[in-house]
Amino acid sequence: MTLTIQHDDLLPGRNFIAGQWREALEGQRFGVTDPATDAVFATVPDSGALDAAAALEAAHAAFPIWRAVPAKQRAQILNRWNALILAHQDDLGRLISREQGKPLAEGRGEVAYASSYVEWFAAEATRANGDVIPASVPGRRMFALREPVGVVAAITPWNFPAAMIARKIAPALAAGCTVVCKPAEDTPLTSLALVKLAEEAGVPAGVLNIVTASRERTPEVVDVWLDDPRVRKITFTGSTPVGKHLARRAADTLKRLSLELGGNAPFIVFEDADLDAAVEGLMVAKFRNGGQTCVSPNRVFVQSSVHDAFVEKLAARISALKVGPASDSASQIGPMINARAVDKIERHVQDAVARGAVTRVGGARLAALGPNYFAPTLLVGADGGMACACEETFGPMVAITRFETEADVTRAANDTPFGLAGYFYATDLRRIWRMAEALQTGLVGVNEGALAAEAAPFGGVKESGYGREGSVHGLDDYTQLKYVCQGQL
Ligand code: SIN
Repeated sequence: MTLTIQHDDLLPGRNFIAGQWREALEGQRFGVTDPATDAVFATVPDSGALDAAAALEAAHAAFPIWRAVPAKQRAQILNRWNALILAHQDDLGRLISREQGKPLAEGRGEVAYASSYVEWFAAEATRANGDVIPASVPGRRMFALREPVGVVAAITPWNFPAAMIARKIAPALAAGCTVVCKPAEDTPLTSLALVKLAEEAGVPAGVLNIVTASRERTPEVVDVWLDDPRVRKITFTGSTPVGKHLARRAADTLKRLSLELGGNAPFIVFEDADLDAAVEGLMVAKFRNGGQTCVSPNRVFVQSSVHDAFVEKLAARISALKVGPASDSASQIGPMINARAVDKIERHVQDAVARGAVTRVGGARLAALGPNYFAPTLLVGADGGMACACEETFGPMVAITRFETEADVTRAANDTPFGLAGYFYATDLRRIWRMAEALQTGLVGVNEGALAAEAAPFGGVKESGYGREGSVHGLDDYTQLKYVCQGQL
C-alpha cells in the first residue's frame, strides 16, 4: 500500500494569508520528514516575523466582516468544510499517516474525529445565545450579549494534526473570530490541506490564515502574535513548559488562553474490576497513536491481589502488537514522531530498569524497521521515583506499579502536578463514585479507555492547563459577554 495523495491540490505547500497562497516573505523553506525513514519528502515555507505580521494584519482586517456574518451563514460554511473533509477522508488519512506515522486506520479515524468537531461547532454557532436578565428596576431592560473575542492565534501539535486544528479553528470560526494558525513543524501538510478545504468551502479571505515554520523559527512567529494586543486569544495544545511560557508572555496584553498541556494519567485496576475489560481499555488508551497522546495512561496501578493475573493477560496482548510503517495495513504501532521521542522512551526504560523495574515485553528500539521505532514495552515493579512516573513518556511503554489500598492509590494517582486524564476499572458502585470524585483530573474514564468525543468538554486541571474544547462549553473560550442595559423605557 502506498501513502500517495490522489488530489494534489490538497498539497498547496505555501502559507495562506489574506486569501492567497504565498511563499514566506524571506523565501525560505524547510523539510517535512517521514518518521518511518527520516527522509524529507516535502517542503513548506519557513516563515518568520514578517509572515506572522501579515497573517495577523489579514485576520484583524477580516474580523469586523466575519463577526457580522449571520451565525447561520457561518454554520453553513462550516458544514461545507465538514463535507469536504469527509469527502477527502482517504487522502487526508494518508497524509496524516505519512507525516505523523500513525497506522492508516488511525489516520482515517482521525479525519472522522476532526470532522466531528467541525460538525459540532457548525451547530453550536447557531446556539451562541446571550441572556435576557430580569431588570432590577422598572423602565429598564438588561441583556448579556455573547460576542466573539477577536483574533485567535491557534498553535497546534503534531500528534493529531487534523483533529487539533479542527478542535480549535471550528469553534473560533463558529463564534465569529478570525484565526492565525501555526501548525507543528513536524506535521504542517495536513493543516495546509485542511485550510485548502476551508478556502474551497467559502471561508472568506483573511478569516483563516496559516503560516508554517521550522522549530528554530517558530518563536519568531509566535512572539509577533504574543506581543500584539490585537490577538485576543491564544489556543495551544502542547507541553506544559511552553504553555507556561505562553501564559507569562500573554499576560502583558491580558490575552485569553486555552491551554491543553501535558498529562501524567493514572490508570488504576482495582481487585473488583473486570480484568479482561481493563486490559482492553488499557490497550486502547495506551497504544492509540503509539502512546503519543496527551490522555495516554502514563502510570498504571494494579491492586496486589489481581496484579499477576492482569500482567499475564496484558503481556500476551502487548507481545502480539504488530509494529511497522503506516503503509503496511497490518501495522498497529507506527514509528515515533522523531529521534527525540525515541530517545525519551529509551531513557525512561533504562532509568526504570536501573531502579529495579523488570522488563516483561520489549524494552528496546526496533532499529531494523527504521530510525524511530520502539518496541511496545511492558515493565513491572515501577514506582513513583522513576522518570516514567514523573514525566510523560509519550510512547508505547506501560510501567506497572502494584498497590494495596484505595487510599494508597488515590494518594499516588494525585501525587503529580498534572491533571489531564485519569482512568480506573472497578465494579463496586460506591467505589466508582468515590474515585471519580477523588481523581484530580479534567477527564475520568470509568471502565472506559476511549474518552474523547466532540460532545464532551476536553481539558485539564492543575498544570495540564485550562479551558475546555468541544461540548456545549466549547464556545465559551472564544466568546465574551457584554452587558447591555437600556433605560428610560
Ligand atoms: C491530545 O493528545 O492532545 C488529544 C487527544 C484526544 O483528543 O483524545
